[in-house]
Amino acid sequence: MQQLFTPTSLLVTGGAGFIGSNFIHHFLAGNPGCRVVNLDILTYAGNLQNLTAVQDNPDYRFVKGDICDGPLVERLLTEEKIDAVVHFAAESHVDRSITGPEIFVRTNVLGTQTLLEASRLHSERMPSFRYLQISTDEVYGSLGPEGFFTEETPLAANSPYSASKAGADLLVRAYHETFQFPTLNTRCSNNYGPYHFPEKLIPLLIHNILQKRSLPVYGDGLNVRDWLHVRDHAAAVERVLKCGTPGSVFNIGGNNEWKNIDIVNLVCDLMDERLENPAGTSRKLITFVKDRKGHDRRYAIDASKLKRELGWEPSYTFERGIAETIDWYLANQGWVQEVTSGAYREYYQAQYGA
Ligand code: NAD
Ligand code: TYD
Repeated sequence: MQQLFTPTSLLVTGGAGFIGSNFIHHFLAGNPGCRVVNLDILTYAGNLQNLTAVQDNPDYRFVKGDICDGPLVERLLTEEKIDAVVHFAAESHVDRSITGPEIFVRTNVLGTQTLLEASRLHSERMPSFRYLQISTDEVYGSLGPEGFFTEETPLAANSPYSASKAGADLLVRAYHETFQFPTLNTRCSNNYGPYHFPEKLIPLLIHNILQKRSLPVYGDGLNVRDWLHVRDHAAAVERVLKCGTPGSVFNIGGNNEWKNIDIVNLVCDLMDERLENPAGTSRKLITFVKDRKGHDRRYAIDASKLKRELGWEPSYTFERGIAETIDWYLANQGWVQEVTSGAYREYYQAQYGA
């Protein structure tokens, strides 16, 4: 696999969130001397505590700001001589998109267009440039029991979240087709790992077991997701940035499908082992609740293009990844307390009445 591009100054958006912060740790460790500028507005999902280990790294700079602020983005691109943008910033939680879709359109669609336009104009002054859009398998809609999403699967988003991500992906495509702007687009399955905000399934389960709260399982619990360790996602993004041909789309997945209820049972059992509970203690907290509106039944990714063309494969087994993730949460209860205080506590009470 041939490296086509070597970034020297990277603008990462949403780098204080779950995947963005893991990517920054990964990238700074492997690319000393490359500048990394993190633009993040710090919503409820963005936490600078995710980045304390790199805050004094001379290659790293944090800027608190909005991707929808065109003049700010233009200034950063020029000031930092940015030659690559990796765009993670988004509103990312499906349940929130159902109760409040507007902010999803603003951040995910308008924010992407603002970045694309500023980057396109700036790139005309750069000898080489890449723009990488981080997207999701959810843009493809829902699968039945068979089959996989490929990069050719038509976009058929079903939630306001996935529709806003699909809108952004189409703008990325349009900027490549119309302006020959050097874009790349990745679509990844469900991530898990450290710094995952505890409104998403896996960290919510760990947190609620520790709090002895109920474990809400939507509908019949038989919806299927493909789970990938966030560090494998970070490595895939770096590979696509450096080696992907502009204009390409790459699916990223773990080849690791689980029914929700099986994940819930597994996390319960692993937590019981660590907490030295009698077997079956945590499973008693499982509560089947009303299904999510428009709940996609199954996601499954065919990531063979990324393996074939760029040689990427996941390195974590799920067994190792989930065990390490649980241990990380148990060792980082201060982080969990910090991110679940304030506005999130109010949201949680409104959602679950607890
Ligand atoms: P996250 O919600 O944990 O983090 C999002 C970050 O974006 C936060 O730090 C937030 O402060 C920042 N942000 C939001 N609005 C902003 C704005 N207007 N300006 C600047 N910053 C802003 O999300 P995540 O789970 O880390 O997801 C990152 C990206 O990966 C998203 O684009 C998401 O669609 C995509 N993705 C996520 C998953 C997953 O399983 N979590 C899977 C596939 C793709
Ligand atoms: P989530 O982590 O929100 O990711 P996504 O919706 O992007 O796939 O949810 C993963 C799956 O778990 C999804 O099918 C919804 C389900 N789920 C529950 O059953 N209970 C919960 O409390 C949450 C947050 C999710």
